[in-house]
Amino acid sequence: MNGAGEPFVLGREILPAEQPARLAALEAAVRAHTTLRPKIGLVLGSGLGGLADAVSVEVAVPFGDLPGWPAATAPGHAGRLLFGRLRGVPVVVQQGRFHLYEGHSAGFVVQPVLLMRRLGAEIAIITNAAGGLNRDFAAGTLMAITDHINLTGRHPLIGPNADAIGPRFPDMTTVWDEALRERLLAAAAAEGVPMVEGVYACLTGPSYETPAEVRMLRTLGGDAVGMSTALEAVAAHWAGLRVCGVSLVTNPGAGLTAAQLSHTEVLAAAAEAGPRLARVVARFVAGFEAS
Ligand code: HPA
Repeated sequence: MNGAGEPFVLGREILPAEQPARLAALEAAVRAHTTLRPKIGLVLGSGLGGLADAVSVEVAVPFGDLPGWPAATAPGHAGRLLFGRLRGVPVVVQQGRFHLYEGHSAGFVVQPVLLMRRLGAEIAIITNAAGGLNRDFAAGTLMAITDHINLTGRHPLIGPNADAIGPRFPDMTTVWDEALRERLLAAAAAEGVPMVEGVYACLTGPSYETPAEVRMLRTLGGDAVGMSTALEAVAAHWAGLRVCGVSLVTNPGAGLTAAQLSHTEVLAAAAEAGPRLARVVARFVAGFEAS
């Protein structure tokens, strides 16, 4: 039970039709803290919490203060929403996210992006740490996401639809907004930060992939693999957010080198490359100051 009286129940399915009432309660809880209307929502991945350092924070809302949300998240995830300005642009930053591998339902995993939309955001920037499938993508590579493959077997929009949020059969041809991606790449170039493009393959985790799975994912057309992002992108697009995102490649996929994978190394690689990504994101966001 938290301050708003709504219990958090791990793994409880949240059907699309239930989201409007839940989002109304979440919006009310946020509005008790701030009137800021974010233009851009930022989702920070494993070890990328430092991206928030560039934000002049007006208010930090711990997840535990929000109805139906838990206080604790995965290692490397702080667990709060930051409201403030980045290069003058009003933003909301999800510092720490909800993953399927923690036992969260698909409908719960996507609540933060739906809340961002509800609070007024028009654009979502989704970041993650990922394994490299493309042999050209060494550890430390930043990859602008062109598309994704959802291999989780889960979907946040199963169940009676919430027509007030988005359509029953949302198109996914343009889930990853090309114009925003071009702006990301331009921001990277302006910062002198190399950035490639590629397809993100999403599995549930929590184990890393087997070498055979990595070979399969490469055959399927994946360039990076991770345990987040795809469901959030689908729901964000459904709800009318324009979506862009970056994978930070922290390691070659299992079997592509002799090395074994560890979360500690993933966090270390994310920490090393995080500041580069932060510069790119800040410059990208700055481009929306006047708009
Ligand atoms: N696989 C899945 N998720 C990941 C990886 C990986 O190799 N590295 C960082 N997140």
